Amino acid sequence: MGRRQELEKRQSLLARFGRMIAAESHLDGLLMIIAEEVRNILGADRCSVFLVDGYKGELWTKVALGLEEKILRIPLGQGIAGFVAKTGSAVNIRDAYKDTRFAQDLDRITGYQTRTVLAVPLRGRDGKALGVFEVLNKSRGPFTEEDEGLLRILATMAGSFIETATLYEDLRRSHLETIYRMALVAEYRDQEDTGRHLRRMSRFSGILALGMGLSAQEAEDIRYAAPLHDIGKVAIPDSILRKPAKLTPEEFEEMKKHTVYGAKMLINAESRLLRLAAKIAVGHHEWYDGTGYPSGLKGEAISLEARIVTVADVFDALSSKRVYKGAWTVEDALKYIEERSGRQFDPQVVAVLRERFPEILQARDEENSRMVADEEHLPSADVRGNGAQPA
Ligand code: C2E
Ligand code: SIN
Ligand code: SIN
Ligand code: FE
Ligand code: FE
Repeated sequence: MGRRQELEKRQSLLARFGRMIAAESHLDGLLMIIAEEVRNILGADRCSVFLVDGYKGELWTKVALGLEEKILRIPLGQGIAGFVAKTGSAVNIRDAYKDTRFAQDLDRITGYQTRTVLAVPLRGRDGKALGVFEVLNKSRGPFTEEDEGLLRILATMAGSFIETATLYEDLRRSHLETIYRMALVAEYRDQEDTGRHLRRMSRFSGILALGMGLSAQEAEDIRYAAPLHDIGKVAIPDSILRKPAKLTPEEFEEMKKHTVYGAKMLINAESRLLRLAAKIAVGHHEWYDGTGYPSGLKGEAISLEARIVTVADVFDALSSKRVYKGAWTVEDALKYIEERSGRQFDPQVVAVLRERFPEILQARDEENSRMVADEEHLPSADVRGNGAQPA
């Protein structure tokens, strides 16, 4: 290729790079696009983006190990990436194994054989160190100075987008965490294993939503909003909520209000997820035939999200232990729900439950065998146990 064509090709690749990174706002997707494009543009075999975790004093990157994705972490200052992050200078290495800075651990973990490495710092808008851009194993020969210039340009272009996506990701995470913790508070008093019930019913809701033909984004929203379905139970007295026996009709009338209380707490929220949670809270005990509560809505008048979540919630309520009942087998729970298809439950959602039952059971096993998350350690189980003692 002539010099001129070479330049034109690079320019169009840069323009394409700019367009592609501008179109992706999620950090995961952005990092994937960047790695793939940079690899192509530089004719390298691999590209890794290392990001600084200032809190832990580490750099992290995602690597594909076979079909799995893993997050690898290296201390700031260690390895080539660590050196670049610490000093802010670029590094161009012709033979990695002869360079004392090279950390062979990553190769050992991935089974990869690094030869040439070109690494430049990645900076945000105000010059703040965000991480390191690394390309490995150029297809022919060592990386050149021109490659370095190009990688610096790509790093500059990518930096501000990565910074924005990181801020957005932090915000999204803290928002989801807050929602999840609110939900834990609500069910804290009446269940043996609140965290697991919420995680299971949340997973089931997502699976059912996908099966109902909703988009991945809609299913994810439902998955995150679903744990709040019973938030209104915070307003129900212990004497009812924790009663280890059947409720009297009066008590049950009081209990039914948890749907409206929940909706009142969430209604008119700014957050899309909280507004969705309000719909789910108010609709999750409506029956498909119009005999449910609180409004006796019928069929499609009940929001689709609530019709989905109610199947997930009842399936999990039946198949797990409650203060007032033992756990049913999953087969009995499925049978019960199928018998009530069209009466209590939307027949389409019930059909999806049957269709995706293996997937549902797998999600259930995964959540049951999962290590109890940190948040569930914080308030110890006996605090809750005391609530059961009569005063
Ligand atoms: P929950 O324990 O989360 O149960 C959610 C829904 O799952 C129930 O809505 C019901 O549709 C279904 N479900 C759960 N366990 C059983 C069961 O043993 N048999 C049958 N047929 N269905 C079951 P529901 O009935 O509207 O109850 C709403 C909430 O009211 C329950 O939430 C629970 O917190 C409370 N509750 C209902 N019945 C009793 C009871 O007899 N004693 C106590 N202490 N609480 C009850
Ligand atoms: C390092 O920065 O030393 C690790 C290089 C690699 O990505 O293999
Ligand atoms: C959460 O853990 O934030 C909600 C449950 C889920 O991951 O689906
Ligand atoms: Fe409920
Ligand atoms: Fe529930």
